[in-house]
Amino acid sequence: MAKLLEGKVAIVTGAGRGLGRGEALLLAKEGAKVVVNDLGGGFDGAGAAAGPADEVVAEIKSFGGEAVANYESVTDFKAAKKIIECAIEKFGKLNILVNNAGILRDRMFFNMEEEEWDSVLSVHLKGTFNCSRHACAYWREEHKAERVHEGKIINTTSDAGLLGNVGQTNYGAAKAGIAALTNILAREMGRYGISCNVIVPVARTRLTTDATPSMKAFMEKTPPPGEFDMLDPENMAPLVVYLASDNAKDINGQVFRLVGNKVWLLGGWHTIDMQGKEEKARWTPEELDKVIKEMVRKAPPQEDMTAPFREAGLF
Ligand code: NAI
Repeated sequence: MAKLLEGKVAIVTGAGRGLGRGEALLLAKEGAKVVVNDLGGGFDGAGAAAGPADEVVAEIKSFGGEAVANYESVTDFKAAKKIIECAIEKFGKLNILVNNAGILRDRMFFNMEEEEWDSVLSVHLKGTFNCSRHACAYWREEHKAERVHEGKIINTTSDAGLLGNVGQTNYGAAKAGIAALTNILAREMGRYGISCNVIVPVARTRLTTDATPSMKAFMEKTPPPGEFDMLDPENMAPLVVYLASDNAKDINGQVFRLVGNKVWLLGGWHTIDMQGKEEKARWTPEELDKVIKEMVRKAPPQEDMTAPFREAGLF
């Protein structure tokens, strides 16, 4: 059977562990040549090691796939350029960029240190900017030279960014920023044949166990042998492969959440209510008090996104 990504070249950042590892493996199984980027640090971003990226490259090679390791940090603009160049030098081009690298430094906002804010914004939001910026410059030059690659960017956001989560103002702000960046980048790059979409995972990785003690107990619950594991990090990989494939060429600027056997299409900010004054005149604070309280009272409650976990008996 023909492979979905035969002849494609992909980069997955943070591919040494967790979701990125699963995505890199399936991209390679579907025929893509893969740059396995990973700094190899702790869940808080401290330290570095070659092991995680090397192990995933070895796994890909063990089933006959092609891959190369890269250990640069996505936080550094110049280093990010080297990640993009690694694909071009090693495999001749770039088709797919999966921005996945991530860390957590959770803290209540009133206690948050500047370094905790900066490091999380730096890996997630700036890292996504850094890699996408160099990839898009490459694709634009290629387009000018009439070499069209139908490039795909797949960014990673989170429930924390789209719905909010206590203790994660830094992470949530970065992840919401990634969704906003994607929305605009999709419009800018669409004219060059490049699509840019966002995925929202939920899976058992060290970010939802070791880094988040409050979630550890239910995240570590596994189903009886033979039953589908809703939280297996490899569940996310088929969505990434699909969005990276030519079949998804008209899907651009969208946000997809996937948990286990469910996939959502999410929408961004939208009007819930709108009220106008009868006369063309400026509002007074007293009038706004009445109107705003009424609008908020009538607004539907925020959607409960935890249903799949309860259905799966996780809490
Ligand atoms: P993970 O900790 O298992 O994997 C993240 C990988 O990124 C690690 O191998 C780490 O070494 C690498 N990394 C960190 N900083 C880096 C840097 N500066 N440069 C290159 N690589 C770096 O965590 P997980 O859960 O697989 O996270 C992957 C992505 O999914 C992250 O963006 C995370 O925010 C996102 N996510 C995960 C969810 C989950 O349920 N696990 C939920 C929502 C979003």
